[in-house]
Amino acid sequence: FKLLVINGPNLNMLGKREPEKYGSQSLDEIMDELSQVANAVNVELAHYQSNSESALIERIHQAWQVVDFIIINPAAYTHTSIALRDALLSVNIPFYEVHLTNVHAREPFRHHSYFSDVAEGALIGLGAMGYRMALEAAVNRLQNTH
Ligand code: DQA
Repeated sequence: FKLLVINGPNLNMLGKREPEKYGSQSLDEIMDELSQVANAVNVELAHYQSNSESALIERIHQAWQVVDFIIINPAAYTHTSIALRDALLSVNIPFYEVHLTNVHAREPFRHHSYFSDVAEGALIGLGAMGYRMALEAAVNRLQNTH
């Protein structure tokens, strides 16, 4: 299976950025751990982070007919980007939405997601563990559907 993990804007600042909310681990550390888990179960895992909406859209387009499943933390674009939502729908790749923090316990503008109603599932407020659980669930799902 080919899995793609996508992280949106400001997530490259993890570890430095509001550590009381987002934790002390850097994105590289989180993704290295995730790669090890993926290797152990023979899943090909690619990771892409960008602060640019257009770059994220282009990366999703490249995944068309190549990637089996996407795990995405759209970060602030969660609450703003119809374009990123449409990109995911246009490639027709199933995806899980991940948020490190419990967005529902934060400012009202974070309560709405342009992704949740078209996601296969969402892992919210579990910190970095959300990515690992999403990976495990994705592998489980793919093994049962292939
Ligand atoms: C986030 C939550 C978003 O509201 C915020 O803009 C982020 C990170 C999270 O992982 O908790 O950048 O997606």
